[in-house]
Amino acid sequence: MSTLLEVSGVSVSFDGFKAINNLSFQIGTQELRAVIGPNGAGKTTFMDIITGKTRPDEGRISYGEKGLSLLSMSESRIAQAGIGRKFQRPTVFEDQSVADNLMMALRKARGPLSVLMFRPTAADHGRIAELAGEIGLSRKLHSKSGELSHGQKQWLEIGMLLAQEPRLLLVDEPAAGMTPAEREHTTDILREAARTRAVVVVEHDMEFVRRLGCKVTVLHEGSVLAEGSIDHVTQNERVIDVYLGR
Ligand SMILES: Nc1ncnc2c1ncn2[C@@H]1O[C@H](COP(=O)(O)OP(=O)(O)O)[C@@H](O)[C@H]1O
Ligand SMILES: [Mg+2]
Repeated sequence: MSTLLEVSGVSVSFDGFKAINNLSFQIGTQELRAVIGPNGAGKTTFMDIITGKTRPDEGRISYGEKGLSLLSMSESRIAQAGIGRKFQRPTVFEDQSVADNLMMALRKARGPLSVLMFRPTAADHGRIAELAGEIGLSRKLHSKSGELSHGQKQWLEIGMLLAQEPRLLLVDEPAAGMTPAEREHTTDILREAARTRAVVVVEHDMEFVRRLGCKVTVLHEGSVLAEGSIDHVTQNERVIDVYLGR
């Protein structure tokens, strides 16, 4: 598997406080990765740096076969280059149907001009049906998004990101506020999505991370504390100390 994203020696300080400290991280083109760590470990800041929202003080980030440097790119160019991010709070259009929300995302993926001139083709409708299947909302296609459960809204938002066909998908705490059944379905969606792209999932819920069944990166004080299978990292003494607050 080739490397899609390589973060090397990245650091960032906020008012003298090192939120990210000499962090290095790699992910392959078709890899699912969980990132865990206590509150304040730097997980969200890490995603902010990859997406160009926060600029690091030092380090390098190389992306794709051509080794593009993300640090010289704007947030919108990074998104155009295929890095999609899901925030914690869903931002779907509540009074539009599931299908309309997905269609809007598809339209946005075509670039600014198509927003004005977009006429959905049969293939576009087919793609919407396919996306709805991937996120488990086939039977809700014509429901108003405002009528969906919290979990279903999160899936719709993942579907809207998938419509843009990102090569790297970043997801911050998707399971927060979900029922156990919704969590289970969310792990299925993310595992499926990672068959054709790289997916980074920040999550607190250990059962959720275990179900993802992927390599885990543990962050602590802005650095990688441990990396490996969930069993490997949860047996690591430094990880145990951090989680028990020792
Ligand atoms: N924009 C900011 N300004 C100042 N401090 C920040 C900013 N963003 C994050 N921090 C601090 O950086 C640390 C890491 O935060 P964050 O990345 O949100 O952690 P996590 O997502 O792992 O809980 C925290 O101590 C937080 O208070
Ligand atoms: Mg966070």
